[in-house]
Amino acid sequence: MSILVTGCAGFIGSNFVPFFLQQHPDGKIIGLDKLTYSGNLENLKGVLENPRFVFVKGDVCDSVLVEEVFHQHGIDGVIHFAAESHVDRSIHDPQVFLRTNILGTQTLLEAAKSSWHNGKQWRPGVKFLQVSTDEVYGSLGKEGYFTEETPLDPHSPYSASKASADLFVKAYHDTFGLPMNITRCSNNFGPYQFPEKLIPLMIRNALCHEPLPVYGDGKQVRDWIFVADHCQAIDSVFEKGRLGEVYNIGGSNERENLGIVKVLLELVRQKTGDRKVGSHLIRHVQDRLGHDRRYAIDSSKIREELGWVPSTSFEEGMEKTVEWYLANSEWMQKVISGEYVRFYELNYGGKG
Ligand code: NAD
Ligand code: TYD
Repeated sequence: MSILVTGCAGFIGSNFVPFFLQQHPDGKIIGLDKLTYSGNLENLKGVLENPRFVFVKGDVCDSVLVEEVFHQHGIDGVIHFAAESHVDRSIHDPQVFLRTNILGTQTLLEAAKSSWHNGKQWRPGVKFLQVSTDEVYGSLGKEGYFTEETPLDPHSPYSASKASADLFVKAYHDTFGLPMNITRCSNNFGPYQFPEKLIPLMIRNALCHEPLPVYGDGKQVRDWIFVADHCQAIDSVFEKGRLGEVYNIGGSNERENLGIVKVLLELVRQKTGDRKVGSHLIRHVQDRLGHDRRYAIDSSKIREELGWVPSTSFEEGMEKTVEWYLANSEWMQKVISGEYVRFYELNYGGKG
């Protein structure tokens, strides 16, 4: 089995690749990644020498390259992670989200169709898995959960682009019969997450004694899942998911942002022994535009149908995450390039 994993050098992709190779001793991965600011080949250092992994640097919107990859490597499955993934960036510059997330997905769908469909039928055993997000469902009030039947109601340019991509995947299924699944997962945390996202950003700022910028009142709620559990869920859906189905994935771990920040401060303080790390570093700054108030996932479908359950508790996952960032300060230094500094200034400069 040769699968194409797009976005393999990003946060979730680089956690997924070694996991998949270990789970499937006969599996081969062709990893395609443009290596944007959030993609880093160092994230894949454990697999670059593995003969069952081939890295291709390139853009998912490049139809010639994508078709060539399908052709040359006999791809029979796609796990599509590649995306622009940060909501704040999508507020500053929506267009690249439209290009990568929508056009890039449609480019892959077209290559899959021309490689897997002979004009009459689909090659047996092929599958396209679209890795999506709970953010496509919009925002919840105090009660309730997103199910797979919840209508799409994206608010940010990021979630609008992911919802559009999901609809293209559905359209290729409904129109042409593409064998596919869509997964919609809640907020991930763990090793290799780019420090623009809440958890690694707060760890970094705490370590540097810099202010921790909490948007608005900090009472927004997210459902957090450790990245390894998301990888396991994707693998289950890829192997066993019923064709054409959507599966929600969540950690059943709802937390307010402010609560997360306090847990992180405590862990960093405990593990470094640094008494200058404390809640005096928290700053409430101007809220994110259109900020979704609460996300919460009902993942009973994947639990009941595929027998998946998350295996890492929130506390264990947070501890592992903080320890990973403490042990990988060089990685952090490296990814905080000039580009990061420019984004930081753009996003936080005027929020004060
Ligand atoms: P990330 O930003 O860390 O990684 C994205 C990767 O895609 C990077 O390696 C980047 O170089 C690559 N990429 C970007 N544009 C590309 C292009 N045009 N061509 C080829 N490669 C390109 O993101 P992530 O957090 O790892 O998210 C991966 C996927 O999972 C995304 O589709 C995201 O929507 C989805 N998702 C993420 C979360 C989360 O909490 N992080 C939750 C649910 C779903
Ligand atoms: P983020 O990690 O960007 O994920 P998403 O927006 O996709 O859920 O943000 C998680 C939550 O943390 C979200 O409610 C926004 C909030 N947040 C802050 O309060 N301050 C920050 O500096 C960042 C990056 C996020």
